[in-house]
Amino acid sequence: MKTYAIAGASSRGLYMYGKAIAGPYHETARLLGVYDINPVRAHLLSRECGDVPVFTSFDAMMQQAHPECVIVTTMDRYHHEYIIRSLQAGCDVISEKPMTIDDARCRAILETERQTGKRVVVTFNYRFAPYVTRVKELLREGVIGRILSVDFEWFLDTRHGADYFRRWHRRKENSGGLLVHKATHHFDMINWWLEDEPRTVFATGTRQFYGPTRSERGERCSTCPHLHTCEFYVDYAHDPHMRALYFDAETEDGYFRDQCVFSEDIDIEDTMNATVQYRSGISMSYSLVAHSPYEGWRVSLSGINGRLEAQEYHSGSHTGDATQLVEVYNRRGETVTYEIPKAAGNHAGGDERLLERLFSEREIPDPLGHMAGSRAGAMSILIGIAANKSIASGSPIHIENLLKE
Ligand SMILES: NC(=O)c1ccc[n+]([C@@H]2O[C@H](COP(=O)([O-])OP(=O)(O)OC[C@H]3O[C@@H](n4cnc5c(N)ncnc54)[C@H](O)[C@@H]3O)[C@@H](O)[C@H]2O)c1
Repeated sequence: MKTYAIAGASSRGLYMYGKAIAGPYHETARLLGVYDINPVRAHLLSRECGDVPVFTSFDAMMQQAHPECVIVTTMDRYHHEYIIRSLQAGCDVISEKPMTIDDARCRAILETERQTGKRVVVTFNYRFAPYVTRVKELLREGVIGRILSVDFEWFLDTRHGADYFRRWHRRKENSGGLLVHKATHHFDMINWWLEDEPRTVFATGTRQFYGPTRSERGERCSTCPHLHTCEFYVDYAHDPHMRALYFDAETEDGYFRDQCVFSEDIDIEDTMNATVQYRSGISMSYSLVAHSPYEGWRVSLSGINGRLEAQEYHSGSHTGDATQLVEVYNRRGETVTYEIPKAAGNHAGGDERLLERLFSEREIPDPLGHMAGSRAGAMSILIGIAANKSIASGSPIHIENLLKE
């Protein structure tokens, strides 16, 4: 039995970790405390997860509850604070992605981990999705030989993608923008598949779809005068989960979960491109948009001996498909198609498999290296952090300099 505390009574803290520990993993894991600056959310998590003790200060939780491991699920901008304080208190850490949002905070985490000898796990759930795992296996088996280049495209739709522009994510100071907050998943998948680390990043990014692109806008959907004509109107206020987590907690921190996607306050990009050069010489071109009519991702990897293509759809006409395909084109003019049954579960089946690794006491072999530490956490965010710097400066950015400064 291992003991845990949660910093950040977020949606993720509650539905991914709190419920798992209170539910399927109650025999191997125990929650000793929860802390959040918003006591309404902390008490909600407590009630939903077997009356976990609620603390009004993080230090008090560490001193009184003495967890072995802290699960960090706050807003991204504060991850570093709780990771560092937990390590210094002698705890291991499970951090949600992104590990943090800028290079200074990333260096501070790596340095504290080194000094304390405690361990940070970064929960890259997408690695655990069976389809993503199958691509890794095929690349390991050498189906396309040494990899030379990658094209990766992720397209968020106007349901899920728009939501980043309603929430705290819409400010770079909170999330690092989508190139950090969202793309950390994507860059980690690529880094993991390639078994390589990034060297140089050049990026462009614009905001063309969301932000003050129309005059019919309000502060938030629930009070908006344009609710009958706006296609982005959402009625979250009447969703019982949203109400309990956010609307009932507004009195504590003034945070609105349904802010207008056309607000002037938004400073993150909705259309982004990056070129990444890897240490081995592999080059990657990456694009991310948050305004697609349907959602998913597409990758093609070119190797010495062939080309591998894979794609996944999260909305749109392919979502009902029972299988997903990986196609490998070799240099003899043949196409080999691998059919992978679509996995049930959250994040393409990744969440449940990750939870099993985190909280079961079963010895699970890890031949493909699914479990990620701070180095992988750093390498995935540093691409996005470098991309942000490249957008601001117009110049390519060297990852090594971000680790050294
Ligand atoms: N791996 C995934 O697929 C996945 C999915 C969803 C969210 N996440 C991650 O989980 C984290 C939470 O995301 P969410 O959408 O559930 O967020 P959320 O908006 O539901 O909650 C954020 C929480 O942070 C708390 N908070 C803000 N400032 C704080 C501070 N200084 N100290 C302590 N708590 C503070 C807020 O009160 C709130 O409870 C994020 O880092 C996000 O990237 C990961």
